Amino acid sequence: MKAGFCSRGRIPLCVTAEAVEEGLIKNPGAKAVLVTSPNYYGMTADIRKIADRVHARGKILIVDEAHGAHLHFGRIVREAGVGFPEDALQCGADIVVQSAHKTLPAMTQAAYLHLKGERVRALRMETILSRMQTTSPSWLLLASLDHSRDFFAREGGRRLQKLVAALESVRRQTGFDPFPGEAEGGFRDPTRLIFQVEKFGVTGFEAARYLARHHCIHAEMADPFHLVCIATVFHTRKELQRLFRSVSALSSADFNRRELPDFTGMADVLKRVARIPPLGMEMYLADRQPFKEVPLEESDGYMSAGMVGPYPPGIPALLPGEIITRECSQDLVKARAFGWELQGVEAEGLKVRVLSRF
Ligand SMILES: Cc1ncc(COP(=O)(O)O)c(C=O)c1O
Repeated sequence: MKAGFCSRGRIPLCVTAEAVEEGLIKNPGAKAVLVTSPNYYGMTADIRKIADRVHARGKILIVDEAHGAHLHFGRIVREAGVGFPEDALQCGADIVVQSAHKTLPAMTQAAYLHLKGERVRALRMETILSRMQTTSPSWLLLASLDHSRDFFAREGGRRLQKLVAALESVRRQTGFDPFPGEAEGGFRDPTRLIFQVEKFGVTGFEAARYLARHHCIHAEMADPFHLVCIATVFHTRKELQRLFRSVSALSSADFNRRELPDFTGMADVLKRVARIPPLGMEMYLADRQPFKEVPLEESDGYMSAGMVGPYPPGIPALLPGEIITRECSQDLVKARAFGWELQGVEAEGLKVRVLSRF
């Protein structure tokens, strides 16, 4: 399903209800619909509208809400008149997964799987999960999930309200708004800070490296135009001030400032990279073949021996056994030129592993 794109802010949006409807018409045999909301940028889909369309056709709606475990506790913020998206369960989703470790005080790996309503049978889910999961779960992880739930149930709303107010006051104080105005389409999580660093003559990737090296601040992610940071209820006003000041300091930092590369067409490159290439050999067979390394630019025509793709988002452009087309290798080279990290490509010499006999 096609996701939207805010051209003013140059940020990807989530899929629309119309795109879901189109997908359902094209795939009448589908059992369920899976959408991601919020995305990495804190943009959410209109889950209410999507749920209505999915349920009208008797299907199940699954939402990957990895980035939104805190949203459920935002009612008090909304009641105070601040835009804060509702969580997917509230909006009618049947199954929701949340990475509690991203925005709640849970340990890395800890996540929730929520079910709501009658469309999904809990017992069936339990049976299926028990086939895949260990019989010795980590009690540390479970305890941290329980702690997060308990803490947020008691204090989450108030803390989120305090955080949103602190962000607003730091914004006013520093005169620096990470992302002024609204994105076109979609709702936005105010705790996800999208700093438009392009105006400083640096890419988001460069800004992220600078902040880590000089200010000990580690951004959640970067793209050519933005630096994306997560503000949590545990950040103090002082820390938020430090973040905003450090990002503003990019304007005067000692940078090899330059005209940024022409990013026109970047979205198209990424879209093409996401296409599934022709399959030359099943992955399990490709995994057993001898391989060699060749420069990415000269790799077309070979079958890939590894998993290759730009990160973020980390969706593989190539899997073992897939044929590297000219378009695919050129787009990956372009993505690298935009500053993207390429997983599965050796940074030195930009080499990829290909099957040597095919
Ligand atoms: C949209 C989305 N879904 C799922 C995941 C994976 O979640 P976890 O790290 O909890 O396995 C991520 C990780 O970043 C993500 O961004």
